[in-house]
Amino acid sequence: MRIAVVGTGYVGLVAGACLAETGNDVMCVDKDEAKVRTLRRGKIPIYEPGLEELVRRNRLEKRLAFTTDLSRAVRASDVIFIAVGTPQGEDGSADLQHVMAVARDIARAMNGYKVIVDKSTVPVGTAEKVRDVIRRETTHPFSVVSNPEFLKQGAAVDDFLRPDRVVIGAEDEKAADLMRQLYLPFTRTGAPIMVMDCASAEICKYAANALLATRISFMNEVATLCELFGADVDQVRRAVGSDRRIGPSFLFPGCGYGGSCFPKDVKAIVKFSADKGYDFQILRAVEAVNEAQKARLAERIIRHFGGTLKGRTIAVWGLSFKPRTDDMREAPAIVIINRLLQAGAKVQAFDPAAMDSARRIFGTRVMFAPHSYDALAGADALAVVTEWNEFREPDFARMRKVMAAPVVFDGRNIYTKDLMKAHGFTYRSIGR
Ligand SMILES: NC(=O)c1ccc[n+]([C@@H]2O[C@H](COP(=O)([O-])OP(=O)(O)OC[C@H]3O[C@@H](n4cnc5c(N)ncnc54)[C@H](O)[C@@H]3O)[C@@H](O)[C@H]2O)c1
Repeated sequence: MRIAVVGTGYVGLVAGACLAETGNDVMCVDKDEAKVRTLRRGKIPIYEPGLEELVRRNRLEKRLAFTTDLSRAVRASDVIFIAVGTPQGEDGSADLQHVMAVARDIARAMNGYKVIVDKSTVPVGTAEKVRDVIRRETTHPFSVVSNPEFLKQGAAVDDFLRPDRVVIGAEDEKAADLMRQLYLPFTRTGAPIMVMDCASAEICKYAANALLATRISFMNEVATLCELFGADVDQVRRAVGSDRRIGPSFLFPGCGYGGSCFPKDVKAIVKFSADKGYDFQILRAVEAVNEAQKARLAERIIRHFGGTLKGRTIAVWGLSFKPRTDDMREAPAIVIINRLLQAGAKVQAFDPAAMDSARRIFGTRVMFAPHSYDALAGADALAVVTEWNEFREPDFARMRKVMAAPVVFDGRNIYTKDLMKAHGFTYRSIGR
């Protein structure tokens, strides 16, 4: 099939490369000229494991191309994916301006039947709005499909190639069949392709993200409870997660959730529920708990040093909102570091992938270390904020040697109390 993907961010670039990988001709469109130039040079503007090789291979095979020319891409394609950002608007709703602008531009460029696929995460009713915009601009026949994306940053390529399920919201059989055909190569291992109405498909994405965010906030509250009663959240988590009705994933307490999806999607569902006169109470609590959780680690550090960090150096390991990504959107590290700075600390940070993103946020207010151990030089304490694998088994003797004091605040519970005691560290973690 001939495909256009509009928006070459984490979702669009991965979707475009993976669709090319199964033999389709894919043209990826972005309005960001610098990004398109970078991609044309064979460079990947984001950090996502496996993506660079996939893009390189499919460009060489001439199945994948990059352009800023949306009209040309539309005219040359049968199926057009909209994968642009839907950031949080001022009132908490998803900002649809990019999606609607792209829908209008697609309509104006149409030269025959097209399937327009909404892959961005959009509130219920957006497929209908996209349909209206296109209808106003063109007399060519078209179908609008809602196809939410469930990939995880850090494992995006693998998730797209081997999805748990594919959700397709379609109002007509022709478009549904085309989408089934497109996704068949990714579902050979038995993952279901679920075809439903557009509103249901749109809700699927929000319900899934909101439930995952709920599990995180729930376990963060359980961790607080464990601290109050002297219990160990690890034991509790294992026992609770081994119930087959519950399952073990997304039960890890930590510094709160972040990223470009959970925070904005939870806010958006609360907002579009409220617009219909419904108060989604659980999700308001999920969000409030998460905001409080992001500040907890910093507050604990400040308390440990008697209420001020003046004259103290705090090392921070991990800046991205989760491991294996360079993305710092809504990362708990932002809240934590700002709080540490506010309390007077000198902050020395290291992250394996997110240093450039972090520099754009903190500028010279934070010292960025070239290596994880350099961040520890002279530090009064280390805060582990993101659980990158390379932090899991450090050289503890070397850490002790370079730090001013052996104090670790583990915001992701990656070490055990026994181990840290054996290495002579003062150690605080979450819910243990
Ligand atoms: N990042 C994730 O893990 C993830 C997962 C599932 C769904 N989603 C959803 O997918 C959508 C995209 O997310 P993302 O993380 O890839 O965003 P992103 O910000 O990384 O990328 C969006 C891209 O769209 C481009 N763009 C914006 N307006 C455009 C226009 N008019 N024409 C052409 N290009 C345009 C931007 O330049 C940018 O490159 C969002 O709705 C998001 O909620 C994201």
